[in-house]
Formats: sequence, structure tokens, C-alpha cells
Amino acid sequence: MGGLRAAGRRCHLEWQVGGWKILPLSPTGSLPVILTPVSKRFYITTAIDYVNGAPHLGHAYEKVVADVIARSRRSLGDDVFFLTGLDEHGQKVQQAAEAAGLSPQAYCDNLAVQWKALAQLLGLSIDDFVRTTEERHQRVVQVVLSKLHAAGQFYKTTYKGWYSVREETFLTEKDRNPDGTWDAKWGQVNELSEDNWYFRLGIHQAWLIEYLETHPEYVTPESRRNEVLGFLRSEKLEDLCISRPKARLSWGIPLPFDPEFVTYVWFDALVNYFSVPAAHGDLAALAPLGDYYAGKAGSFSAWPADIHLIGKDILKFHAVYWPIMLRALGAPLPRQLLVHGWWQKDGQKLSKTTGNVVDPVAVIGEWGLDAFRYYVVRELGIGPDGNWTDTGFGDRYRAELANGLGNLVNRAISMLNRYRQGLVPSPHLELAAETTAVVEQTAQLYRSFDAQGALVSIWKLVNRANEYVEKTAPFRLAKDPTQASRLDEVLYNLVEVCRILAVLLWPVIPHTSDRIFAQLKQCDAPDRWDLTRWGRLEIGHQVGQPEPLFPRKDLAPGGK
Ligand code: ME8
Ligand code: MG
Repeated sequence: MGGLRAAGRRCHLEWQVGGWKILPLSPTGSLPVILTPVSKRFYITTAIDYVNGAPHLGHAYEKVVADVIARSRRSLGDDVFFLTGLDEHGQKVQQAAEAAGLSPQAYCDNLAVQWKALAQLLGLSIDDFVRTTEERHQRVVQVVLSKLHAAGQFYKTTYKGWYSVREETFLTEKDRNPDGTWDAKWGQVNELSEDNWYFRLGIHQAWLIEYLETHPEYVTPESRRNEVLGFLRSEKLEDLCISRPKARLSWGIPLPFDPEFVTYVWFDALVNYFSVPAAHGDLAALAPLGDYYAGKAGSFSAWPADIHLIGKDILKFHAVYWPIMLRALGAPLPRQLLVHGWWQKDGQKLSKTTGNVVDPVAVIGEWGLDAFRYYVVRELGIGPDGNWTDTGFGDRYRAELANGLGNLVNRAISMLNRYRQGLVPSPHLELAAETTAVVEQTAQLYRSFDAQGALVSIWKLVNRANEYVEKTAPFRLAKDPTQASRLDEVLYNLVEVCRILAVLLWPVIPHTSDRIFAQLKQCDAPDRWDLTRWGRLEIGHQVGQPEPLFPRKDLAPGGK
């Protein structure tokens, strides 16, 4: 930040000082007096899901992890912009619509309702929800295409060869199995001969390798970065086909320079990360779009994205095609791809055909949203693949949520009510240092997007506080009048730990944190990290009644 820049085309000048924009009173320039914040928001995105079916565990997991990152950054003081949405074009969606006997738009409109409902059910604190059929998105895609076309990045040629409908991609002889057959993952493979538009990727290979080498944080975890670099160093990048002939596929964004074609669905989909900030008036996204967008800039500032959270299967699109598209456009590149692994259930691939699925809506209906959010975040960190088992879920629910956190909060608030009429005794410091250490470690882990690590760190405090109850035995102290002040100390330490736990946990299980705060009769929301400071509970404050946070489920069907 800092320095002088022209805003859009209106050409009045703005000064930026320490993240604040100072506007002159009039374009002719008297004294600068109006201050508006222009500091860039922390911008996090998820993959946008195909609308060709119902949402499953993998989709829900990714969105929850992104939400935990968004909420933790907000709690820690960032202004966050959190985007998710739907990928609605392409052959898969066109085919699914045909099978359902609907027009593609009607089909997408129906499913979009279901997907938006899932976002709400998951408690996502999103700031926007993009659908690639929206005009605001389609226009930006067309401007991007026009600009790259004018810059000579594309050419048209005839392709003869093999095409996988399921993966919407052209195959080469290298893609065949050793015995000459096509792998099942490609689905139906057709022979084609057709004209298409291609994006010259070869000229971008060298700078991309250098960029990945000099920006180690761009692809994380490191194993994924090595995967991309290994591929880029050993193989020549083939040009990318960015069109589909309308005769074969009509459900897409028309190429602005050749009306017989629609845009390849991935070229369209990736642009969502950029089209949404542009639509909000983000200068960093609008400037590369040139004349067409000049003058539309507002005070919104999010681009470049800080985090694109994606699954491992779409790494190449985000680590190779996306930076090349942006660089060719002259736009700043995103800071970081966070690449998660895939869930299985009972050691097998999730699959609708074999019925090996986990329905997030059903799990949430049975166990509650926070139990679902807790389990997926605690079980699978960013990197490896995960394995859902109903027994594993039940075990964590019982041990960590019901007997761990739930029991602690329940005991602390019950004992304060029973022994002190719910009135907070005078502050005491016995658990202060250990709590502060956990608070700092947890903040550090959230800052590095390690939500699983944050939960491990938080549970050190949950377990420590439960041990503290066992060791200090307040139920025994209560029977001995000479121990009254010791009982005050113990009770203070316990309720203060519970209050702080609510703040630490808010990014992951916000509903539970709200309930802890309600039981403690706190009027703030547990959504600000500065509330973790020890000693904010004041003497004489009246807490409320305890209510079980995680009811025991021992008798649930299936022995869960
Ligand atoms: O790929 N476990 O959409 P999608 C974990 N529209 N994550 C999983 C998963 C699993 N079993 N299955 C899928 C697309 N995912 C494109 C994205 S972005 C510009 C366009 C993840 O619906 C997958 O890795 O097939 C991806 O990140 C997301 O769900 C959407 O997958
Ligand atoms: Mg997929």
C-alpha cells in the first residue's frame, strides 16, 4: 500500500496512507478530508461445486474448513470476504438436466436452492454466493476472453482424437492403460474431429516454474507443490482447449469472438474467484479488464485471493491454468492454494452407485451441526485423505464432546450455582498461565490455517480443566467450611476457562460457543479473540443455568 494511484477513469487522485484512502474534497483538489478504509480484505474461496447432483460429505467438509478459516480470521481481527458458489455450465450439467427432463437453467435453479440451503445448514458465514450462470460472472468471463484473444493468446485449429465426456477433456495416447483400453475414470470415450480454440500455454511454462520455485507458499502442503513442480519440470505443457462447439454442447458462455463456440467449463469456472470482486467494484480485479470496466471501481478491495481452498483432484487447474490465465490478463496472482485430501467411508471411495455415502444433512439432523463440524475438522487436517466411520464419529462425540467439553461446562456452571448461587467469586490466577499458553498456541495454529491442530491444542485445556476438577474435588471442598476460599478459587478458574474455551472454539463450533456464553450470561458474542484475556469474568456476575451441550446418545440406533 501507499503512494498515489488513479481510481478508475475518473482520474481524481487518491492517496493511501497506512491502508486508509484519503479522498480530496473535490476532483479539482482542495484539502483531503474524507477518510474511508481501503485496506484489502482477507479473501478466501472454496471450489464451486458442480450442480449435477446432491451435495456429499466431501463438499460439506471443504465448505466447513473454509468457514473455520474465515471465522478464525474475523475473530483475530481481519476483515474477511468469504466466497463459495456453484459451477453450473458444461456437459455434465447439460446431461444431468436432460436426464431430469428439464432445461439446464431450470435444472440449475432447482438445485441451487438445495445447495444454498446446505450452505445455511452448515452455518457458513459466507459474504457472497456465486452461480456461474449469473450475468455479473458471465460478463467478466467474456471480457477476459476478449482481452486474451486480442493479446494473441488463442488460436483456432482442428483436433482429431479422443474425448472423455465425463471429465470433459481430450485424451491422448498417453492416457491409455498399458493394455490399450481407457480407464473407467474417463467414462465414455468418443472419437472426435472438430475445430476449437486453444490457449497457448507453452510460452508460460518457464515463468510458472520460476514462480512456484520462488513462492513456496503458493501451493500447500508441500507435497502438492512438489507434485506440480515435478509435472511442470518433466513435461511440456500442452495448449489448453478453451472452447466447445455449440453443435455438441450449447450450455456454456458464448465465445465473444466466435459465436459458434461456448467456453470450456473450467475456463469459465475459475474466473468466478475474480468476477465476484470485480462485480463488487474491486479495483485490483477491474483494472486488468481495461476500458470496459473503467470507472466502476468502488471501495471494495479483496483481490488477490488469500486462500483458494480446493481438493487434490483439481490441483492442476488451480496451480497451472489459473495463474497462467491471470498472468496473461495482467492481474495479480492469488497468494495460496490450500489443497485438501479426499474422504472415504469405511476405507472405500464415496460412491452413489455402491451406496457408500455419508449424507451430511442426515448426520446433522441426527447429531447436530456442531458435532458434524467438530468431527470433520478434528478428524482430517489439510493434506492426507480421511476415512469416515460411524464408530469413529460416535467415539469422538462421546469422549471429546459429551464427556470432555460438555461435561466440563456442565460441572463448572452447576457447581457455581449449587455452591455460590451462580455468583462469580473474585478472580483467581491458578489456570491463567496455562490458559494463556493455549490461547497463544491456538491463535498461531488458526493463523496458519491448521484448524485440526487448533482443536488438539484447545483440548489440552479441556482435559486439563477436567483433571483440575478431579484433583481439587470441589464437591469435597464444599463440605468443609474452612475450605470456602479455596472453593471460590477453584470455581473461578473453572468458569473462566469455560468462558475462554467458548471464544477459542467459536470458529469451529459457533453454536456451542453461543450456548456456553448464554449459560454464562455474557452479553458479548464469543466471536472476538480479545475476549480470551484471562480475568474478564467479574466478581459478583450472575451466571445462568447449565444445559447439556451434547446430550448422550448411547441408546441411538446402530450403537452410535
Ligand atoms: O471439481 N472428499 O466440482 P466438484 C473431499 N466444479 N473433497 C471432495 C470429495 C471427497 N470425497 N469429492 C469432491 C469441481 N471433493 C469443479 C470445481 S472450482 C473453480 C471448480 C471436493 O463438485 C473436490 O475436490 O466435482 C472439489 O474441491 C470440490 O469438492 C467440488 O468438487
Ligand atoms: Mg469432482
